[in-house]
Amino acid sequence: MPRNPYARLGTKLFYALRMPSFARGRAKVLAKFIGVREALAAAFDSDPKTIAAQFHRIEHHQAHLASAFFVSPFERAVLLSADGLGDFASTMWGVGVGNRMEIDGAIPFPHSLGLYYTAVTQYLGFLKFGDEYKVMGLAAYGQPEQLDVLRDILCVNPKFNGFHLGLDYFTHHRSGPEMSWAESDKTPSLGKLYSEKMSSRLGAVRAPEEPVEQRHRNVAASLQARLEEVYFRMLELSAVRTPLKSVCLAGGVAFNCVANGKIFDNTLIEQVFVQPAAGDAGFAVGAAYYVWHQKLGKPRSFVMDHAYWGPGFSTAEIRAAIEASGIAREGYIVAELPEQELARRAAAIIADGKILGWFQGRAEWGPRALGNRSIVADPRRADMKDILNRRIKHREIFRPFAPSILAEATGEWFAKSHPSPFMTLAYAVRPEKRELIPAPTHVDGTGRLQTVTREANPRYHALISAFRDLTGVPVVLNTSFNDNEPIVCRPEEAIDCFLRTKMDALVLGDFLINGVELRR
Ligand SMILES: [Fe+2]
Repeated sequence: MPRNPYARLGTKLFYALRMPSFARGRAKVLAKFIGVREALAAAFDSDPKTIAAQFHRIEHHQAHLASAFFVSPFERAVLLSADGLGDFASTMWGVGVGNRMEIDGAIPFPHSLGLYYTAVTQYLGFLKFGDEYKVMGLAAYGQPEQLDVLRDILCVNPKFNGFHLGLDYFTHHRSGPEMSWAESDKTPSLGKLYSEKMSSRLGAVRAPEEPVEQRHRNVAASLQARLEEVYFRMLELSAVRTPLKSVCLAGGVAFNCVANGKIFDNTLIEQVFVQPAAGDAGFAVGAAYYVWHQKLGKPRSFVMDHAYWGPGFSTAEIRAAIEASGIAREGYIVAELPEQELARRAAAIIADGKILGWFQGRAEWGPRALGNRSIVADPRRADMKDILNRRIKHREIFRPFAPSILAEATGEWFAKSHPSPFMTLAYAVRPEKRELIPAPTHVDGTGRLQTVTREANPRYHALISAFRDLTGVPVVLNTSFNDNEPIVCRPEEAIDCFLRTKMDALVLGDFLINGVELRR
């Protein structure tokens, strides 16, 4: 279990006394974890006493750290987990050696890098769960003119080896971070985290329907710049204390690919590993590996070198889904092709400026589409971002699309060549290459890249190679296979999304389905 109700009891009791309603809410959540044996017995309709399994309670951030280090390629590494809040802590750091982790410190509630970012994201009028990602994209359009104010909101604290929040700018330490679920789309959202002082220093709060102005972009840039200052300082202090030059990152903050990409230039660290489900979705893996190594002392034997751990479908299942859809009867042309021919024809479709749905193998684990449930397009066309947004994705115009690049070509096209197999690092595109791949190059000249190896994903590598053979560019634009919905998983969902949106063609396993335009 990636929860330990007994962790940080003193801090919890202190805040339980100050915020009884928050404490009641937490108690309900924790009761679920305490009664796991009973819940399991009820699910299997058996007596709890007959369940022989031993249960381990793993603290939130220890599970985060284990989910990164124990599946990393590193024998030794600095470890850092940072998120909103979990088991009453927001940040934990330490060192991993072999099959052991040593925890050096943690930062307790209410101080939190995640809540810092979320509070300013809310202030900027982005209220949905996960909107921090949008503000990170928006930051590239601004100047960090308000950095001094943000330094007052997020402060360096030598005692914590990290930071504390300027609590006058927040409300969660008084009322508790309230989570609620929207009825319409079942998405979670946090209650308001910032106080009046935020607007008294930064200007009027932006309402969600109001236009995004330059001052909002500047606040976003300041928010990101201050996060980076504190993040790099923590990593640098860890790197200085130990001779380790590798870091494993986890927690929601580890998805800040902009900050991650700058680690190499701002700290002594030379290697970064962030596994693809670095947020709370990575808990099951983290808790399991924690028990296996830290508690049972088993040796390391696994490196997570790809993200394709989700459901996969056989050719027979895909064929059945195509037949059941009736798509061929509606005039779409369906062809079953050998791999090289499939890659060659798919690359030609992309190079022709068309939009291709690309569904292959097992689904990705984690929030990013990494070439198995992706929509792929030509990165060379400056208008491709607008075309994708208009026809399929319907996203805010300031959000960038990502490039997938043949791993072996990374250094030729980007300022760094360290692998980024899970799209968790953003690097500057080399200046002379920017006009060659304008679609996935962000306004600040960076790209949140995925480096693709033949070993990790042979078919996606074959597609990008075929595109390079045709165009000289070893890059495709990659965005998730969905339209304001969860990423498709099953072939039926891919066909449904393909038919609903205005994609031109769909590759589904070994099958190429040409859309209405291309069948002529
Ligand atoms: Fe977390």
